[in-house]
Amino acid sequence: MKLTIVAATGGIGRHLVEQAVAGGHDVTAVARRPRELPGGVRTVAVDLTRPDLRTLAAAVRGTDAVLSALGPRNPRTDAGITSRGTRAIVAAMQAEHVRRIIIVSAAPVGPVPGRPTPPRHDPGDGFFMRHLGVPLTRAMFGRHYADLAVTEQTLRDSGLEWTVSRPPKLTDKPLTGTYRTAWNRNIRGGFSVPRADVAHHMLAMVNQPDTIEQVVGIAT
Ligand SMILES: NC(=O)c1ccc[n+]([C@@H]2O[C@H](COP(=O)([O-])OP(=O)(O)OC[C@H]3O[C@@H](n4cnc5c(N)ncnc54)[C@H](OP(=O)(O)O)[C@@H]3O)[C@@H](O)[C@H]2O)c1
Repeated sequence: MKLTIVAATGGIGRHLVEQAVAGGHDVTAVARRPRELPGGVRTVAVDLTRPDLRTLAAAVRGTDAVLSALGPRNPRTDAGITSRGTRAIVAAMQAEHVRRIIIVSAAPVGPVPGRPTPPRHDPGDGFFMRHLGVPLTRAMFGRHYADLAVTEQTLRDSGLEWTVSRPPKLTDKPLTGTYRTAWNRNIRGGFSVPRADVAHHMLAMVNQPDTIEQVVGIAT
């Protein structure tokens, strides 16, 4: 397949590129510092703080799916980049009639909206996460989670075939290929997941139509 990978130099992004190339996909890697990418992939330079729509459109033209692991290098000072960048990616996809997009969000963003009466807590969060884990991480990275909620809403409003991956704490442990997933909720007792596994699951979801218009929790 033809895949466009955004934020290809990031922790998850590098795994996406590596696994997609190993899987025989035709990869276009989008990064603000493309020189840091391995050879053998087509690269497009875009700084999503000031996205150039024509360059982004060229990066997604003719692709089967866009996978984005965009996020702030520093969630306390750079919050806002995920929604801004994702809006630009969505606009480029709409202009080029590209339909499929999978992005990375985060487990503590909050209950998935859409139910008649949304629950106060994510139904996948147990006692520890509800009363300690989520309040603590929100106190530290609240602005970033608010931006991720805006990002998710941008996808819901986009008319695209979107999927949101919501991992808990990311680690740099090696790929396992064995992780738990759940639709529209976090994973009970799932406190972490390797970046390599998040990338593995994002690539798998490209060909899983039942993940379209879904928020998918993932954890070890
Ligand atoms: N850390 C966690 O434990 C955790 C847990 C749950 C969810 N998440 C979510 O997962 C996301 C991805 O995680 P990660 O570890 O892969 O993040 P990361 O290593 O910080 O990668 C972020 C990527 O976004 C890119 N980026 C940032 N600003 C940009 C800009 N203005 N223009 C273009 N690209 C830009 C970075 O580019 P450069 O390489 O050029 O800096 C980098 O490739 C996080 O952002 C967060 O929302 C994180």
